[in-house]
Order: sequence, then C-alpha cells, then structure tokens
Amino acid sequence: MSRCIFILASGTGSLAEAIISASQKGDLSAQVIAVLTDQPEAGIVSKCATLDIPIISHPMHDDRAEWNEELFQITESLNPTLVVSAGFMRILDANYVTTFKVINSHPSLLPMFPGAHAVRDALISKVTQTGTTIHWVDAGVDTGEIIVAREVPILEDDTEEVLHERIKIVERGLIVATISELLDTLEFSHE
Ligand code: GAR
Repeated sequence: MSRCIFILASGTGSLAEAIISASQKGDLSAQVIAVLTDQPEAGIVSKCATLDIPIISHPMHDDRAEWNEELFQITESLNPTLVVSAGFMRILDANYVTTFKVINSHPSLLPMFPGAHAVRDALISKVTQTGTTIHWVDAGVDTGEIIVAREVPILEDDTEEVLHERIKIVERGLIVATISELLDTLEFSHE
C-alpha cells in the first residue's frame, strides 16, 4: 500500500487508536507506519503495543533545535504521505511543516480557542457551543488553513473532562473521514 500515515501523539491516544483501527479493519485505505510520542509514559505507548504498531519515543530534551532536527530525520526516513498530529502537544517548526504534509485535530472551533487548553477556555468564555477543527499545520499555534470543523454543544453541567470526551467522540470520526478524503487528493510521495 503506498499511502502511509505517520501519527504524532502525546496523550491517551484515542484519536490515534481510531485511525489505526480504521486502517487495520480496512475502513481507511492507508497504513499507519508508526506513531511517535514525546511522552514515553503516555497511554498511546501501550495502545500501540496492543495494536501492533511501531512506537517511536522522542522525549523533549534541552536542545530544542536538535530535537526538531531529530524529528525531521525520523519523519524523512519514514517518508509518510501524511503526518497526523493527533493530540501532539508540541509546536512543529517551520521547516517541518513546509517539508511534510501535516494535519492537526484541535478541540475547538478555530480560530476560537487555539492552544493547549481549548476546552477549558471555551467553558470559561461561556459560549454555548464549541467543537473540533481539522486544519493544515503551519508554523503558528493552530493557525493553519482549516479543512473541516464540526460543532459540539456545551451543556449546562459540563466539566472540562466531560465536554472534552464528547468532543473527542466527534474528533475520532472526523479525523478518519478527513484522512480518507485527503489521501484521495494528495499526490503521493511514498513508494
Ligand atoms: C484531542 O482532543 C485533540 O484534539 C487534542 O488532544 C486530544 C487528544 O486526545 N489536541 C490538542 O489539544 C492540541 N492542541 P487523545 O489523546 O485521546 O487522542
């Protein structure tokens, strides 16, 4: 299969798992070549073991430029068709996002509530709905071109955790469907 996805994840990895499962069931016509995490203790690590997907541990270190370069080299060696940031809590540098095709799933209706606390920020601001956005990644913080977004209502008793879980249900379906559509339109570099 010539369509290869490389996933970046920092957390529990439920989005990554949705992508991997869709690929393994044949619902997504692409292979997940590996997952990279900057958090060696994160839930995504055991998920990859269960799902039999290579996990690359790349924890942050003191030299950020060197870390960026190592991430670049790892990605280049894998030659992915598409890089998917699925709960990856690091900013990717300009060289990376202009060299590779990178998308990100974010838990708000961008441009509202960019950054690491999108769900909390939506609750604090008292809006009645938030959602999820999938966008191309540029060198900014959640500023890249929007591909698709879905609304999720905020309910009266929502806590950050409850609301985030409801958003993630939508995110998991949307990321799989969006990857599928993008792969049909992208020019493939992987052989
Ligand atoms: C998702 O909600 C994703 O949008 C968010 O982290 C969660 C990962 O969930 N990403 C960001 O907030 C990036 N700014 P998961 O670990 O269960 O896949």
